[in-house]
Amino acid sequence: MGTGVGFGKVILFNEHFVVYGLPAIVSAIGRKTTAVVEKGSGSGAEVNDCRPETPGYKAEKLREQQESVQRMLKFMNINTEHNHFKITLGGDLIAASGVGASAASCAAIARAFSEELVLNYSDEQVNQTAYEGEKGYHGTPSGIDNTAATYGGLIWYRRGGESQIMDRMKLRKPVEVVMGNTGIVADTKIVVADVKERKEKEAEKYAQIFKNADELAQKARKQLAAFDLPNLGISMNKNHEMLQQIGVSCDELDVLVDLARDNGALGAKMTGTGRGGYMVALTPGRELQERVAVEIERKGFQALRTTIGT
Ligand code: MEV
Repeated sequence: MGTGVGFGKVILFNEHFVVYGLPAIVSAIGRKTTAVVEKGSGSGAEVNDCRPETPGYKAEKLREQQESVQRMLKFMNINTEHNHFKITLGGDLIAASGVGASAASCAAIARAFSEELVLNYSDEQVNQTAYEGEKGYHGTPSGIDNTAATYGGLIWYRRGGESQIMDRMKLRKPVEVVMGNTGIVADTKIVVADVKERKEKEAEKYAQIFKNADELAQKARKQLAAFDLPNLGISMNKNHEMLQQIGVSCDELDVLVDLARDNGALGAKMTGTGRGGYMVALTPGRELQERVAVEIERKGFQALRTTIGT
């Protein structure tokens, strides 16, 4: 039996922009997906998915999950003709859009196979395998989700062609955030393809937004380093506006963002693919975190109380 984990994440700056080589900032959220791989007789691979979920998520992602597992098996050179593998997924990360659920499962599965088959994978090999698995879900992933899922922590990330730049960042101390779940399952492939199409059609408008997003990430990096939370919150608000401008937010996300800000969050934005999934609000201190979370729940949404920078 082999076991492995993958970390859940929240993108704090520049989802979507990161696909085009702009820098982005991502943090682990203290929730994990676990995988257990058991080798038996027979052939093929089966997934026993016991993760908690946003209703409908697992069913909607089932085909993509199967493609993802097949891609990873091929990448790891694992032959399932003469061996049967049972993969059991669990952990406390909700299988939902916006928290890196697919990437966390890919990293966990890669680690579990590495242990079961004594492949002795380094983190880098786990990351490469998870990236391959992510292609089953995303088509053309930037690599930010699998990197966050593999390494955890707070990461400055930039894609450069086939290579990736990853810098570990440090926060003076962990900061409370609230993540609000729209309950809507998003399709990353479709949303990423939409952005591409509109970027090509409205090149000039998008060039300006992308320039602003680039500058904003550089500023946010300094704010994180200086632990300047009020200005970091303002930057998150600005990033949300840019994401609205490229058409990846939705009414439910905007409602959650407004709700968080109206109840004292220093800043709030959608996170991840958008058009569903999660919103993240910066709510330092237990009291503020609780106030925002309770208001989100009062409006009928699920609220996840967690921290960034751990
Ligand atoms: C999804 O978590 C993040 C996106 O930027 C896609 C990607 O980076 O591959 C929307």
